[in-house]
Amino acid sequence: MAETPKTASLTIDGKTFELPVLTPTLGPDVIDIRKLYAQANVFTYDPGFTSTAACDSAITYIDGDAGILLHRGYPIDQLAEKSHFLEVCFLLLYGELPTADQIEDFEYRVTNHTMIHEQMHNFFRGFRRDAHPMATMVGVVGAMSAFYHDSTDIADPWQREVASIRLVAKMPTIAAMAYKYSIGQPFVYPRNDLDYASNFLRMCFSVPAEEYVVNPILSRAMDRIFTLHADHEQNASTSTVRLASSSGANPFACIAAGIACLWGPAHGGANQACLEMLREIGSVDRIPEFIDRAKDKNDPFRLMGFGHRVYKNFDPRAKVMKQSADEVLELLGIENNPTLQVAKELEKRALEDPYFVEKKLYPNVDFYSGIILDAMGFPTSMFTPIFALARTVGWISQWKEQISDPQLKIGRPRQLYQGVTQRDYIDVENR
Ligand code: CMC
Repeated sequence: MAETPKTASLTIDGKTFELPVLTPTLGPDVIDIRKLYAQANVFTYDPGFTSTAACDSAITYIDGDAGILLHRGYPIDQLAEKSHFLEVCFLLLYGELPTADQIEDFEYRVTNHTMIHEQMHNFFRGFRRDAHPMATMVGVVGAMSAFYHDSTDIADPWQREVASIRLVAKMPTIAAMAYKYSIGQPFVYPRNDLDYASNFLRMCFSVPAEEYVVNPILSRAMDRIFTLHADHEQNASTSTVRLASSSGANPFACIAAGIACLWGPAHGGANQACLEMLREIGSVDRIPEFIDRAKDKNDPFRLMGFGHRVYKNFDPRAKVMKQSADEVLELLGIENNPTLQVAKELEKRALEDPYFVEKKLYPNVDFYSGIILDAMGFPTSMFTPIFALARTVGWISQWKEQISDPQLKIGRPRQLYQGVTQRDYIDVENR
């Protein structure tokens, strides 16, 4: 017997409206309010989208209470352990794990798009050397639509595919160039005989004056950092990409919008802010002072790398990142790193503190990532560009999903107007 579709009733001024309830494959039911305004002449109010599903998606699922993150159904810890970044890119973009032939073909396509248009080098040179690499990336990625006209027609599936591959392939080159430019060193061209992570490390750390040999331990750790950041459902930057794309904007413009949003310290900028905070704390004996500040309502300070809009449990990415930090620092022979010791002790004390326990504040992905990136030799200003590089595939997958939806509508939220009501214009001499 067919199940009766679920509905929710809403009564306003004695009049009742029946709203359809949609059931996802995982997660809570969703009340469909699309016709609410037309039927009841009311809007819903949800600043920060704390209870609003803005789209259908089949890419990533998060259960924040249980601390679960799945990409196309596969748990992130399994992907971090058994897979590698380009395989996860394929999974996110096309929905299934690739066969051996498919991954070979995908890696070939990505590898053969790693160079950027030579004239873009001049574009980089227009920036001040002391620009933050994220500022440079927002500009350069936005400018890609001026260099790659042949992949900006969003109505053409082939052009969409080429734009996707170009973005995944060129982002490490662009991030590395932003870094090289900021430190006054020559740009390093990509090498197609290296894997994705090794190529990025080489573009960041090699100089023409000497041979650079990629450390496989660091390359594996880099790849894992990329994997852990690849996608994260409808977060602020992804929603920004979707909103930009809903108007029909080209993919390079949409990804530039995502990068701009990611830069904020409440989002991707938290990894830089977190390492700076851990360094400022400096030693274990100063931890109580900073915990007290984080709890003080009159102090704007927050524990960076702690808390999450969705996770009210351990961020599963933080668990893998912590393990990775231990491994990398041990293999590099710097396991007594004072910043790692401060981080571990801070985590322990915060998790025993009723303030953090009651508010369900746990370490997030940014808590340990900066320690690894620092040990690899990256300055803090490169942490968020690395996040942007890795998240590009997530943004692109979500963009592709949205663009292929025949029901696509321009994103246009409503508002609760709190301004003055209509009034007549007053001539300047009468004001
Ligand atoms: N330190 C101290 N108190 C905190 C923290 C923190 N890191 N995070 C949240 N709180 C408190 C907050 O003051 C509030 O208290 P009250 O209810 O008494 O007013 C309560 O916890 C809920 O916080 P909220 O700001 O309403 O929660 P939110 O879901 O809007 O914000 C967040 C989530 C990630 C912006 C926030 O936890 C935060 O600012 N964390 C630090 C920045 C950070 O690490 N961001 C990286 C997020 S993960 C990477 C990514 O996806 O970008």
